[in-house]
Amino acid sequence: MQILITGGAGFIGSHVVRLFVNKYPAYKIVNLDALTYAGNLENLADINSSNYEFVKADIRDRAAMFSLFEKHQFDAVIHLAAESHVDRSIESPTDFVDTNVIGTMNLLDAARHAWAKYPAKGDFRRLFYQVSTDEVYGSLGETGFFTETTPYSPRSPYSASKAAADHLVMAYYHTYNLPALISNCSNNYGANQFPEKLIPLCIHNIKNNRPLPIYGNGDYTRDWLWVEDHARAIDTIFHKGILGENYNVGGHNEWKNIDLVRLLCDLADAELGKAVGSSQQLITFVKDRAGHDKRYAIDATKIERELGWRPSVTFQEGLLATLRWYLHNETWLNNITSGEYQRYYQQQYAQR
Ligand code: NAD
Ligand code: DAU
Repeated sequence: MQILITGGAGFIGSHVVRLFVNKYPAYKIVNLDALTYAGNLENLADINSSNYEFVKADIRDRAAMFSLFEKHQFDAVIHLAAESHVDRSIESPTDFVDTNVIGTMNLLDAARHAWAKYPAKGDFRRLFYQVSTDEVYGSLGETGFFTETTPYSPRSPYSASKAAADHLVMAYYHTYNLPALISNCSNNYGANQFPEKLIPLCIHNIKNNRPLPIYGNGDYTRDWLWVEDHARAIDTIFHKGILGENYNVGGHNEWKNIDLVRLLCDLADAELGKAVGSSQQLITFVKDRAGHDKRYAIDATKIERELGWRPSVTFQEGLLATLRWYLHNETWLNNITSGEYQRYYQQQYAQR
């Protein structure tokens, strides 16, 4: 069985590729990635199995997507490739529409045409699995949760582009009977995350004794999930999810940004042998993100009850493991924080 995983050199994709390659030796996993600034083959350096192949390609290239399906006759797609950072989407929405909307449509069309041409193999079901985000639901107040029936109400160019892609996936399911489903996950954390996102950015800055930029008053809430638990959820949904449905995935783990960063500082002080409270002195409140969503919180009852998935690690365990991973993988961090990252950081934070 040939499974196409897109975006497998990125943060979440690398964990999904590793899980599938190691757990399912009978599947052939093809990882398609354009290796943008966020794609990094070092994330997959330990994988050299014969059931794994990497293809450098861009989902914006429609002809390339059609040829790839022609060549490999994929049975299923797990689609993660995307522009994923909200702050970059505020600076440059076009890239997000090009990759997240047009790129997704190219893949949908390539799958639709290929699957109309070639018969399915054995009992293996065909599936186009769209990996999406809870940000498509918009912003919550102090109470309540996103459920699978919460209407989409995206508020950033990033979430609008993901919402548009999700709508296309469901439109292809209804219009062309394309076998498809979607999952909407909360904020992931763990190894391999690019240090533009809150947790790795703060770890990197604590290490270098630089300010920790907290947007606004830090009173924004996110629901954090260990990335390997997300990969396990994707495995579960891939094999057991019902076509045409969406599944919310979350960690029952809400944190205000300021509280999370304080906890991270305390863990870092202990790990680095610094005086208690010293990293917290780096916390700096800066100009807020435009249109900043106040709170995300996932009701994950459906995947827990219907598919039997639940998170496996506590936040304390996961955050400590994450911190240690970044502290012990200096080369990984240095390689991606030199060069282009410096320009990005300057542009994003110098005026804040
Ligand atoms: P990431 O930015 O770390 O990785 C994205 C990957 O996609 C990179 O390897 C990049 O090279 C590749 N890519 C980008 N544009 C491409 C293109 N045009 N063609 C081919 N490859 C391209 O992102 P991530 O955080 O791992 O997120 C993966 C997916 O999961 C995204 O679809 C995102 O919307 C979704 N998601 C992320 C989170 C989160 O907390 N990070 C939560 C829920 C859902
Ligand atoms: O909810 C799922 C989403 O989580 C994914 O779809 C996105 O791809 C992923 O990037 C993430 O989006 P967020 O915008 O929530 O993540 P980020 O790490 O950028 O920010 C987390 C919170 O921290 C958010 O409230 C903004 C705040 N923040 C972020 C940065 C980068 C700061 O206060 N300072 C910062 O420097």
